[in-house]
Amino acid sequence: MPRKRSVIVVNDVNALAEAALSRLADQMAKLEREIAVCLTGGTTPKRMYAMMAQSPWRERIPWGRVHWFMGDDRFVPDDDPLSNSGMAKRLFLDACAPADHIHMIDTDKGSPDGSAADYEQLLRNHLAQRHGPPLFDVVLLGAGPDGHTASLFPGSPAARETERWVVAVPQAAVAPFVPRVSLTLPCLSLTHEMIFLCAGAEKKAILERVFNDEDLPAARAFASAGETIWMLDQAAVPPNVRSMATDRRPALSGIAAIIIMGVSGAGKSTIGQALADRLGFAYEEGDTYHTQANIAKMHAGVALTDEDRWPWLHAIAAAIDSKVDKGIPLVIACSALRRVYRDVLVHGRSDVRIVYLKGTEGLIASHLKNRKGHFMNPSLLDSQFEALEEPAADEPAVTVDVDQPVASVVRDIIDKLQK
Ligand code: 6PG
Repeated sequence: MPRKRSVIVVNDVNALAEAALSRLADQMAKLEREIAVCLTGGTTPKRMYAMMAQSPWRERIPWGRVHWFMGDDRFVPDDDPLSNSGMAKRLFLDACAPADHIHMIDTDKGSPDGSAADYEQLLRNHLAQRHGPPLFDVVLLGAGPDGHTASLFPGSPAARETERWVVAVPQAAVAPFVPRVSLTLPCLSLTHEMIFLCAGAEKKAILERVFNDEDLPAARAFASAGETIWMLDQAAVPPNVRSMATDRRPALSGIAAIIIMGVSGAGKSTIGQALADRLGFAYEEGDTYHTQANIAKMHAGVALTDEDRWPWLHAIAAAIDSKVDKGIPLVIACSALRRVYRDVLVHGRSDVRIVYLKGTEGLIASHLKNRKGHFMNPSLLDSQFEALEEPAADEPAVTVDVDQPVASVVRDIIDKLQK
């Protein structure tokens, strides 16, 4: 995997929490299997953790399939205010996650070394039970003002560890000055996705050094099997990142949300995610806002009625408002086959655009034949084309032909949106 960092810049720490939750929920929505998330400690994630226990995020996380781990902890009892696991359990884990899905570092052991050895064994047992490597699906991390991440402090043996997955850290270099237990860089890298959360002007200086690739633990942390994403609020963005975060991305002035529409099989998710990555927008699957009843109907091959759709469409419109009002530009995939559905989604906003993915029924049927694990029953394709009303001239929409590679479709979309 290339050691490349993606950067997403949002307005403030609340928007940071939203963007991180949106990314986490999207990644989870793509997986039908058990999911492993490694949490970070510190203060930055607290807002995100508190929101996980509230609507709409509580409903969007498949708690029965997610296992929760901790990237590092202070060697204190979990009822100590300094405890990372105590913080996470109080903010959301105890209220939302099955108890046997919560795998925190046990700091009631005799020593940090004993605690580290036990946690390493727990992680290795977990990997043996998983569908296969890597160890985690998402690893959340922070970065300290000295460039540490987890409890891996610059120049420490722990930060140089190449074999063990979990180590004791007798001496913390920054407060709280208590012994720690920490996953190592080789272990933290065993993930599909790594998301750093950094907020506040006090992080600007260290982020400049990280993005200059100085020899710092936070600069040496990368996902081995997927993307390494740095989510920053505006206050934390240093000059060498601001240029990177904005120049390489096409300017779409006046566009805050993009709805990717089309029949099932048109490629909404693939193209929507690729477009969001190219633009530095958040990405969401509109389907994650369906009620379980709707999903069951679609699994059973029963077409949804409009009564089924209205709450779903209004939930998506609310999600657009919520993100955009926090300064998080968004791409969201939603079939939106009829004009009346799109009117609900756009709901009078002038900063929303619709992208219609157009393809012949034969092409789309071939896409569907090759797609596994999705709940849309291919026999519903006919009813989708019957219901489809292509965007009218007075709608804020562009049409692109999907009979071309994804990269070309994305370029086509950006060209048309910039006109
Ligand atoms: C810890 C954390 C630590 C944290 C950074 C950033 O145990 O303290 O795991 O690595 O992520 O110090 O902390 P803030 O988010 O509070 O700035």
